[in-house]
Amino acid sequence: MESFIAGLEKAELHVHLEGSIEPETMVELDPSVTIEQVRNEYRYSDFAGFLRAYVWAGKRIATPGDYALITRRLLERLAAQNVRYAEINLSVGVMLWRKQDPARNFDAIVSAAGNSPVQVRWIFDAVRQFGTEHAFEVARLAAGRTDCGVVGFGTGGDEARGPIEWFEAVFDFARSSGLRILPHAGETEGPKSIWNAVRLGANRIGHGIRAAEDPELMAWLREHDVPLEVCISSNLATGAVKSIENHPVRRLFDAGVPIVLNTDDPAMFHTTLNREFALAATHFGFTSEELRQVAAAGFRYACPG
Ligand code: ADE
Ligand code: ZN
Repeated sequence: MESFIAGLEKAELHVHLEGSIEPETMVELDPSVTIEQVRNEYRYSDFAGFLRAYVWAGKRIATPGDYALITRRLLERLAAQNVRYAEINLSVGVMLWRKQDPARNFDAIVSAAGNSPVQVRWIFDAVRQFGTEHAFEVARLAAGRTDCGVVGFGTGGDEARGPIEWFEAVFDFARSSGLRILPHAGETEGPKSIWNAVRLGANRIGHGIRAAEDPELMAWLREHDVPLEVCISSNLATGAVKSIENHPVRRLFDAGVPIVLNTDDPAMFHTTLNREFALAATHFGFTSEELRQVAAAGFRYACPG
């Protein structure tokens, strides 16, 4: 199974650049920390602890050169796993919060991705708890870079402190600028958050695992062909799902809900895309044919453009 998964051509549709920094690279970015310290920071028991660690990691990416380095490292890892296509989330909201120049960071990121065998597109992510005006600023930056491979606008961060209803006008603006709407929803909050996301026109749902609590919602997602970006290791590490036995990936798949498998923050969740596929096989009985279908879904649900 391992070599079958390694050989599959895969797409990664939900991976955050800032969550992909392996401890060894983090020490290169900030020589004042040790590998052991980074490993400690990358351990959490709940979602709030994870978000604190994400901010900790983000604070160590200081320059456009740092962004270029972490981009190269992520793409090397993806290429080594036979990932052929990736939509990479950039926390542009965090760049703004840190008073960086997102345009300069993005230029460095795009140029670092230039030689990769992986075809890459970009999603600009706002921090939902920073509110609507902040999200508009991120969406405007994304809209200005559609000619450089920016295909989507997303909202990450704390779902409980930044309900999706806040972003209706921002999503409308992003859509009218040619961007796809790619919010996190139903990760830590319940089905209502996903209903609101689809009502506001989400094209895919980041996580969306809590849809499994609502048969009507699962049927809606199936009928309207809106996929969930499922990230098993992420859900376990953040406590969004209490144990692997409780993870709904199999129930969602069996209910006909379109799913793609993803890593979310591979370094922070100690995973790879191949490992996520292996978890689906070993813990949830996905057959090689089913894994082939899931891998194909990664390409089918990619953003156009
Ligand atoms: N940013 C990076 N990973 C995230 C996650 N799992 N949920 C919300 N925001 C995030
Ligand atoms: Zn995410």
